Amino acid sequence: MSQYDLIVIGSGPGGYVCAIRAAQLGLKTAVVEKMPTYGGTCLNIGCIPSKALLHSSELFEEAGHGFAQMGIGVPAPTLDLKAMMAFKQDGVDGNVKGVDYLFKKNKIDGIHGTGRIAAPGKVEVKGADGKTQTLDTKAIVIATGSDVARLKGIEIDEKRVVSSTGALSLEAVPSKLLVVGAGVIGLELGSVWRRLGAEVTVVEFLDGALPGMDGEVRRQAQRIFEKQGMTFKLSSKVTGVDTSGKRLKVSVEPAKGGAAETVEADVVLVSIGRVPYTEGLGLADVGVKLDQRGRVEVDAHYATNIPGIWAIGDAIKGPMLAHKAEDEGVAVAEILAGQAGHVNYDAIPNVVYTFPEIASVGKSEDELKAAGTAYKVGKFPFTANGRAKVNHTTDGFVKILADAKTDRVLGVHIIGADAGNMIAEAVIAMEFGASSEDIARTCHAHPTLSEAIKEAALAVDKRSLSM
Ligand code: FAD
Ligand code: NAI
Repeated sequence: MSQYDLIVIGSGPGGYVCAIRAAQLGLKTAVVEKMPTYGGTCLNIGCIPSKALLHSSELFEEAGHGFAQMGIGVPAPTLDLKAMMAFKQDGVDGNVKGVDYLFKKNKIDGIHGTGRIAAPGKVEVKGADGKTQTLDTKAIVIATGSDVARLKGIEIDEKRVVSSTGALSLEAVPSKLLVVGAGVIGLELGSVWRRLGAEVTVVEFLDGALPGMDGEVRRQAQRIFEKQGMTFKLSSKVTGVDTSGKRLKVSVEPAKGGAAETVEADVVLVSIGRVPYTEGLGLADVGVKLDQRGRVEVDAHYATNIPGIWAIGDAIKGPMLAHKAEDEGVAVAEILAGQAGHVNYDAIPNVVYTFPEIASVGKSEDELKAAGTAYKVGKFPFTANGRAKVNHTTDGFVKILADAKTDRVLGVHIIGADAGNMIAEAVIAMEFGASSEDIARTCHAHPTLSEAIKEAALAVDKRSLSM
């Protein structure tokens, strides 16, 4: 008799949600977590703390530059970074305690320690005290997430040369921050420290920020970030960081090679992507296959090549996003309980929480062009949206891409204030296979920013009412 129906290794959004759904469906479930708190990267050192700092730094900047024009007179704001960090930690604590509560409520055994798969059906857990216990289970779900990708020859000390983890806990605002990689982390955390007073230079290997997103959105985003004061060094790479002096000396070279220049900085943030984390799990010993990029290989139902072992989240292929991991957690739990778990990978939103926010779902114009799909475009700028005008948040636009023949929505891209909340409407539309006409005929509350989505849908048929 197995002690458990399911042991999940890792308590990030993939793992903890999987455990809760499995418990709801009657499976006797345990979660093994090597960090002192549950919640994984997302709750402890990712989504949650970064959003706390984005929120507080945005208000700090607004208090300094935006209040006067609304007639609010306040003295120049001062920064108490320690208190801001405490605000962030309070938010993190609240969230991780929430997971603890949910485990208890659903009768899930939370086990602290590092998990290793000794054999299918056997998980060995080594506690912080060095003691090892072996647990029996019918199924194992690997939800061990991802880790920071490193640059060869550049050591991350999390003080002066930092990953996102160190950048979420700096003890002082650096006068100069050099960010390596103009991706999501570079732009979000670069925004935080710029708003708090750092001079921010972003070195990006490719010829533009946010690769993978819609080209028009990427170009507008970069223009806005430049206007806000960020400097971009594109088609460039960092080849070394000299840490011997008081200031860091960073060697930056053209991406294609050539003469290096030296850029001085107080802090360097390495944000060039993340890699799946499977260290110490014993996968090679049990024969679980990894793909060429080190991700656990799974079939369409999250099963690895070894019966009884499954995997989800950042540890497998697909976008490294918390909500993707969560949905896979639910799907695999339902599959294990004999149901038909499923994730629609064509309708996974992607949000960058800068100001303005950038949000998308479905295909970009570049992808549709590459696939030879005939499409129509409807675009609406926030300069023509009533609510954006009164709020003075007119940067950005909504773009809807619809199939030229069927009018089915293929992609929605928004750059603008609150884009992250607004994209939910587009995701639902796509999940239900909506046409742009469906969105255009749906009543939207006035005055809201979401009216720009309706107007963009009307614009697909060239009948926008406000432009
Ligand atoms: P993780 O959250 O990485 O959790 C894996 C867990 O497994 C960890 O707790 C780890 O300690 C544990 N573990 C690993 N190996 C073992 C072992 N052998 N034994 C026991 N435990 C083990 N995504 C978004 O969607 N929105 C955002 O706003 C967002 N912001 C982010 C900001 C930052 C700075 C970072 C770094 C990431 C952000 N992400 C965001 C990405 C998001 O955090 C990940 O996609 C998500 O956490 C993946 O979930 P997961 O459950 O697969 O893995
Ligand atoms: P990223 O993949 O978003 O961006 C990395 C950037 O670094 C790319 O632009 C890439 O071209 C560039 N790059 C790679 N090697 C380089 C080099 N040697 N020199 C200069 N530039 C280089 O990765 P990032 O920002 O580290 O984030 C990791 C992941 O975490 C994201 O892919 C995302 O899945 C997740 N995340 C999600 C967030 C969200 O949903 N809002 C927020 C933060 C992270």
